[in-house]
Amino acid sequence: MSRPHVNIEGVKKVYGAGRDALEAIREASFAVGQGEFVSLLGPSGCGKSTLLMMVGGLLEPTAGQILVDGGRVTGPRKEVGIVFQSPVLLPWRTVLDNVLFPIEMLRLRRPDYGGRALELLEMTKLEEFRDKLPRELSGGMKQRVSICRALIHNPSLLLMDEPFSALDALTRDQLNLDLQKIWQQNHKTVLFVTHSITEAVFLSDRVVVMSPRPGTIERILEIDLPRPRSLDVRETPEFARYSKAIRDIFLARGVLSNS
Ligand SMILES: Nc1ncnc2c1ncn2[C@@H]1O[C@H](COP(=O)(O)OP(=O)(O)OP(=O)(O)O)[C@@H](O)[C@H]1O
Ligand SMILES: [Mg+2]
Repeated sequence: MSRPHVNIEGVKKVYGAGRDALEAIREASFAVGQGEFVSLLGPSGCGKSTLLMMVGGLLEPTAGQILVDGGRVTGPRKEVGIVFQSPVLLPWRTVLDNVLFPIEMLRLRRPDYGGRALELLEMTKLEEFRDKLPRELSGGMKQRVSICRALIHNPSLLLMDEPFSALDALTRDQLNLDLQKIWQQNHKTVLFVTHSITEAVFLSDRVVVMSPRPGTIERILEIDLPRPRSLDVRETPEFARYSKAIRDIFLARGVLSNS
């Protein structure tokens, strides 16, 4: 791993208190290197979103600490871009104005970012739709707008929470390819949450497999497949071996069952 960008150190998260206390994450420790693509994979409710929101400074750990660029996370920061599971676009704003929304929130100068917004829209094949409203877009296009919005202020760290889970299989495949390209061209560090073993293996340098709640880190797998990866890589024996190794962890933990 390259120099660490994110350090997650002995992090624990308990929601509520007393009889209502719910232990979401028992213990999580791992690092994400600069420019690395890491996926968090685990069953529903194991604390993936919780962990991602803590890295983004939107939630506080109950114990342990998270460092970004060596500094302790105490709140949201400008160097981080977040893509949520649903695109949450502002319905009255055009595609271009939605992409530029964080610039206003961060009180940066909008004219300085117009060119970058158009570049991002071009890269995600949305340039013709810049003046359309969200309701005029397909689900995949909305999700691409939300990716552009997360990238507009050029954050070095991109946090993505199941960004493609609501999409049809073909659109999802295309966005997997698009994301790989964006990541390679922009040298971002990505922490990506998914339920899909195939998506995690396809996209990642490493896959962090979590146990059922209360979440712990079950295993970290290095995915040593050449890049750029084409969709065909999913049919190779190496790819099948990685997928099986992850499936076996879930079978052993009762997350999956063959019978
Ligand atoms: N704000 C909250 N208050 C109380 N409990 C919460 C809160 N947010 C999440 N939880 C609980 O914490 C646990 C982990 O939730 P989290 O959303 O992190 O899981 P997840 O791994 O992202 O699941 P999914 O794959 O279904 O999105 C769950 O049991 C959930 O009910
Ligand atoms: Mg979640």
